Amino acid sequence: MRGELRRKFEAKIKEVKSMPFVKWVGGKRNLLDYILPNFPNEYNHYYESFIGGGAVFFSIPNKPENTTISDNNFELIIAYKVIQKEPQPLIKLLKTHQKNHSKDYYNKIRSQEPSDQVEMAARLIYLNKTCYNGLYRVNKQGKFNVPMGSYKNPNIMQEDNILACHEALKNTKLLYKDFDEIEPKKNDFIYCDPPYHPTSENSFTSYTKQNFTETDHVRLRDYLMKLVKNGVYIMLSNSNTKFIRDLYNSDKFHKEIVYAPRLVSCKPDSREHVEELLITNYPINIS
Ligand SMILES: C[S@@+](CC[C@H](N)C(=O)[O-])C[C@H]1O[C@@H](n2cnc3c(N)ncnc32)[C@H](O)[C@@H]1O
Repeated sequence: MRGELRRKFEAKIKEVKSMPFVKWVGGKRNLLDYILPNFPNEYNHYYESFIGGGAVFFSIPNKPENTTISDNNFELIIAYKVIQKEPQPLIKLLKTHQKNHSKDYYNKIRSQEPSDQVEMAARLIYLNKTCYNGLYRVNKQGKFNVPMGSYKNPNIMQEDNILACHEALKNTKLLYKDFDEIEPKKNDFIYCDPPYHPTSENSFTSYTKQNFTETDHVRLRDYLMKLVKNGVYIMLSNSNTKFIRDLYNSDKFHKEIVYAPRLVSCKPDSREHVEELLITNYPINIS
C-alpha cells in the first residue's frame, strides 16, 4: 500500500475499539467487569486457549506485547488469521455477501467448502451474522447446519470493526490447537473459558464435531493443576455446578460466584441470570 493510503488506513484502524467479529455462544461480554479487573497485576505472556469470539481478548485495554490465542475450531482460527494478515480482501468479499444476501444465497454459501482461507473466513462471518441465533453448530460430519435467521438487515460487513480487530491482533500468535497443547511458563497468565458444564439438558456445549464432555473438564482441571505447580497464573470461568465445584475443590484454587445474563439453550428467549464461577490460583476481588 502506498504512503498516503497506508497512513489513512492506519489512522482509521486506531480510531475504533475492537469487538468480537462473530457472535459466539458463551461469549463473555457480560462478565468483563469481573474478569478484566481481576487479571494478575503483572505477568509475562498472556494466553487465551478457548478464544471463541474473543470478548475478553478484544476488551483488554493495553494488550500485552506477548499474547497467544487458540481454539480447536479450525474455521474460527482461520478467520482470526485472515483478519490479522489480509483484512482488505476479506472486507471486499464480505461486501459481496452483503450485496447478494438472500435465502438462496445463504443456502448456496452454506453448502460450499472453500479451501481458500479468505473465502473460508468470509463464509464463517457471513453465516454467523445471518444464521439463526448466531449459533455455530456443525453436524457429525463437521458441516455447518444452522438454518438462516430472520434478521431484516443483518450487519454482515463491519469494516471498521474488522480493521480494529486487525490492529488488536497485530502482536498475537494464533494457534489451532486443543487446550492441552498450549504450554505457558512460570509467571505467564492463562484465561480459560471452556464450553460450559451443562446446567440443564438443553445447554449448548458443542462448537465443533466433538462435544466437551465431563472427561474433558477433568482433563482441563488436571492440565490447570499442572500449570499451577509450574507457577503459571490461571483464571477459569465455568458454570456453578456441583461437578465443577467438586473438581476444583483443592485449596490451590479460589472460587468466586458471579452473576451474568446468559443464553442457556438454543432458544433465543431463554436468557436467564445464571450463576457462574471464576476460579483462580490467586486472590481476586468480586464486589
Ligand atoms: C465458551 S466458548 C468461548 C467463548 C469466548 N470466551 C467468547 O467470549 O466468545 C468455548 C470455546 O472453546 C472451544 N473449544 C471447545 N473444545 C476445545 C478444546 N478441546 N480445546 C480448545 N478449544 C476448545 C470452542 O470452539 C469455543 O470457541
